[in-house]
Amino acid sequence: MKLKFTVYLFLCMLLVISFSCKTKTELKQKTLPVVGLIAKKAMVVSARKEASKIGVAIMKKGGNAFDAMVGTEMALAVTYPFAGSIGGGGFMVYRKATGETGALDYREKAPLAATKDMYLDKNGDVIPKKSQLGAMAIGVPGTIAGIFEVHKKFGSLPIEEILNPVVELANKGFAITKKQKKRFEKYKSLFLETNQDTILFAKNYKTGDTIKNKQLAETLKRIIKNGALEFYEGETGKKLVERIQSRGGIITMEDLSKYETKWRSPIQFKYKNLSIISMSPPSSGGICLTQIMKMIEPYDLKKYGHNSLKTIQIITEAERRAYADRSFYLGDPDFVKIPIDTLISTRYLYSRMDNFNFDKATLSSEINCGMISGYESDETTHYSIVDPFGNAISTTITLNGAYGSKLYVPEVGTFLNNEMDDFSAKPGVPNMYGLIGATANAIAPEKRMLSSMTPTIVEKDGKLWMSVGTPGGSTIITSVLQTILNVKEFDMTMQEAVNASRFHHQWLPDIVIFEPESFNNDLLNSLRQKGYHIDEEDSKIIGKVDGILVLPSGTLEGGADKRGDDTAIGF
Ligand code: GLY
Repeated sequence: MKLKFTVYLFLCMLLVISFSCKTKTELKQKTLPVVGLIAKKAMVVSARKEASKIGVAIMKKGGNAFDAMVGTEMALAVTYPFAGSIGGGGFMVYRKATGETGALDYREKAPLAATKDMYLDKNGDVIPKKSQLGAMAIGVPGTIAGIFEVHKKFGSLPIEEILNPVVELANKGFAITKKQKKRFEKYKSLFLETNQDTILFAKNYKTGDTIKNKQLAETLKRIIKNGALEFYEGETGKKLVERIQSRGGIITMEDLSKYETKWRSPIQFKYKNLSIISMSPPSSGGICLTQIMKMIEPYDLKKYGHNSLKTIQIITEAERRAYADRSFYLGDPDFVKIPIDTLISTRYLYSRMDNFNFDKATLSSEINCGMISGYESDETTHYSIVDPFGNAISTTITLNGAYGSKLYVPEVGTFLNNEMDDFSAKPGVPNMYGLIGATANAIAPEKRMLSSMTPTIVEKDGKLWMSVGTPGGSTIITSVLQTILNVKEFDMTMQEAVNASRFHHQWLPDIVIFEPESFNNDLLNSLRQKGYHIDEEDSKIIGKVDGILVLPSGTLEGGADKRGDDTAIGF
């Protein structure tokens, strides 16, 4: 009896100890926030340390955020060929210290010889992989035109001063990270198949090995000397076209010489005391983000709590409704009329949630519009910059798939995109990753394909507050959304906000994807009981967010996503 009592007492003590340990851990989490890099004046957060360093060095020399953008983007082309490249395209949203905002579209375009049915066989069926792998998948690249346009309008340092360090980086090389080595291994067979020969990135590398891209260094030197025309009309352009055509592609010198960037008005909207500035079409990012945030605005997320049952329900239901609209209405605004004003009007958006209640999931089949299946490619990259003058930029760039079309141009030292896959090859039929929508996103010569990229800048009470964005295909929009909410509603630091577990819904397929092993089973079961279809196991990484937050003291906090090699550098 005495023994039994002693055992009982011992077990009770264990319980008390374990309970107090847990409480201490929780307390520790609450009282010791995870804070990202703090800098007084300026910062770059990007997918690679070398790229962030180059951007910061430019600003230390007196350059502004736009100069730093040019250097950072080209350094990503050297060190992060997975998504950074001179053969892709992107979107940049800016906010100058004066409060002036704007956006640059340097998205790829369909070649002149492109046709609506170019990826269909004679029976009208989609030819597998034709829009994803090899020369036919390539859109006319916009990157070089984009950085020169930014430099012409806002740059302050000479282009050679900005790009010489990048040439040096390409010549001296960069160290392969563990994650990068894995990616090279994963894609090696596709590199060999597409190029019918070995290429620089198909060798057997070890972590820590150095890759020098001498060809890219030479290309950059020619670009410094001859400007953007080198890429679009010069020797570099000729080498690209020769390679593309020799592998069965349709891009011509005329396509290159006709390429132009577009300054666009960003989408701007209010969420409580925040003013959000994000990318307009041909990206769906800004419109979708507006729709989701306006739909959730009337709900008290702060009260429900971060990643609580009710919060997940509200966000999921708003996402469901926004992605349904995205599929049907959005495309290149130079080709299709988009009812933007209605799509982002508060009245319309509040009414979209009328048929939601907390008892049970709305079925996507009950929500109207187009037809979506699968997920968009998630191999994009984002960087954020704030300079000492108070200018901020938010830029997302892409080759679309990992290493784009996998077609490499050895003499130029670059992969080329497979952005044509972001068009709807055939309404109602899913491409491998992406959205199949209505005719709004059908292929036409010189048209830009719909994107999900969501480079975003946020003002709070009229002042710069955050620059944020991410790769992640169709999950881009929902990752940017959750990061903003994490800081605004759930009082996280920038670093905690980018690290926090994420989930995603995109109308069809009618599945909520959750980052594996990040959400507890009781919560997921409660969602299942309400009729939500959950995918936790197969879900890919949801975004890889990089952001900068301006703290109340005016200093900057970087958030570099723990999911990648992303790095914040500042001074
Ligand atoms: N290629 C991915 C996107 O533009 O959203």
